[in-house]
Amino acid sequence: MRLSRYFLPVLRETPAEAQIASHRLMLRAGMLRQEAAGIYAWLPLGHRVLRKVERIVREEMDRAGAIELLMPTLQLADLWRESGRYDDYGAEMLRITDRHQRELLFGPTNEEMITEIFRAYIRSYRDLPKNLYHIQWKFRDEQRPRFGVLRGREFLMKDAYSFDLDVGQGRAAYNRMFVAYLRAFARMGLKAIPMKAESGPIGGELSHEFIVLAKTGESAVFLDRRMLDLPIPGDDLDYDGDLAGLVDAWTCHYAATDDVHDAARYERETAAEDRMSARGIEVGQTFFFGDKYSAPMKATVSGPDGVDRAVQMGSYGVGISRLVGAIIEASHDDAGIIWPEPVAPFGVEILNLRPGDAAVDAACDESYGALTAAGKEPLLDDTGERPGGKFATADLIGLPWQLIIGPRGLAEGSVELKRRATGERRSLPLDDALRAICG
Ligand SMILES: Nc1ncnc2c1ncn2[C@@H]1O[C@H](COP(=O)(O)OP(=O)(O)O)[C@@H](O)[C@H]1O
Ligand SMILES: [Mg+2]
Repeated sequence: MRLSRYFLPVLRETPAEAQIASHRLMLRAGMLRQEAAGIYAWLPLGHRVLRKVERIVREEMDRAGAIELLMPTLQLADLWRESGRYDDYGAEMLRITDRHQRELLFGPTNEEMITEIFRAYIRSYRDLPKNLYHIQWKFRDEQRPRFGVLRGREFLMKDAYSFDLDVGQGRAAYNRMFVAYLRAFARMGLKAIPMKAESGPIGGELSHEFIVLAKTGESAVFLDRRMLDLPIPGDDLDYDGDLAGLVDAWTCHYAATDDVHDAARYERETAAEDRMSARGIEVGQTFFFGDKYSAPMKATVSGPDGVDRAVQMGSYGVGISRLVGAIIEASHDDAGIIWPEPVAPFGVEILNLRPGDAAVDAACDESYGALTAAGKEPLLDDTGERPGGKFATADLIGLPWQLIIGPRGLAEGSVELKRRATGERRSLPLDDALRAICG
């Protein structure tokens, strides 16, 4: 992409309404625009990151055997009356009436709808297990939308739902999602720690919140610091195998959010030097709630014995839009964002320090072509802005590499290559720089 043709409305001033770094940086880097409280337009740069986060989550869901579909944002109130949650959900639910006076709502989550879809088609244990998911906008009329995309009213969520014949198989389905979450967050450059959690309005006994540690996080958490170094399951992981041992390796350590924190147990189970209290951002949550929805909604399957029983269910949410903010909270400095490579909106920024200079233009075009061909998604700053402004923008939007090409260096046969994460800068011939970026 050539910056002269792109839409990147960066702000030099710090927006007054933003209280935390990720919100401030998303506004300044031209990623996001607030349209109403907690409701945002994703500008092109932000949209590219959102899509990359979404793609990683999708790949890991698919790998774990979940199947993607797409449910609508609007749901019938009557569906929620079947589970009894229509009245329970309260003011967070945005209720809508259509021209026929039919009561609708903007979905805050989809347990009811997926249960309705499941029961319409699946009747036998032979069709189990199933795990269905979608990636769709949700609406929750939060009392205090704040911190930009971290707590919005409209937000993008991946929600998966598992269906199994019995509790044992339901736990196995839960374990597959647990492990898929470890992998997905790690691929985004995040350390997300699974912590024992309250299940809240979703219900059920077994639940974990996946928490990214950050000073600005909304939850206070208590954990065994050794969890920070546990290994993430690799690409060769077999989802058909028994994952209980893997899940145990994570859940055997104490880690809890303050709503379920048990100080006595914490002190009993965790050596003083391993205790760590911190704040964190919840980026995902897993729930196993058995027949909480399937029983009232009569989603039953016949077992091998011919007897019908309510299907055992779990649900698994990931805050896709929240993750964009969480990644920035975890990775930035005073100058701007520092994108982990897998979610960077572009792979490398080429800074043309003298547009109009034939040699510099030619070197930039050559680099642009080579990096595009190598799949590195370059962003070429070919605007008329002065070098100082270009450097500031490049640091602000935080692409992993900066390839700086100016007339003076070029006359001596060299360009500059900067690594955003470390600030390391070196002069080298253009070909060597391109090779370094392409790895
Ligand atoms: N208001 C919100 N803004 C952005 N993301 C949200 C919001 N509420 C929930 N999420 C994301 O969706 C995921 C699943 O939501 P869930 O656990 O059902 O909600 P909650 O944690 O609010 O009870 C959360 O882990 C979080 O990442
Ligand atoms: Mg939650």
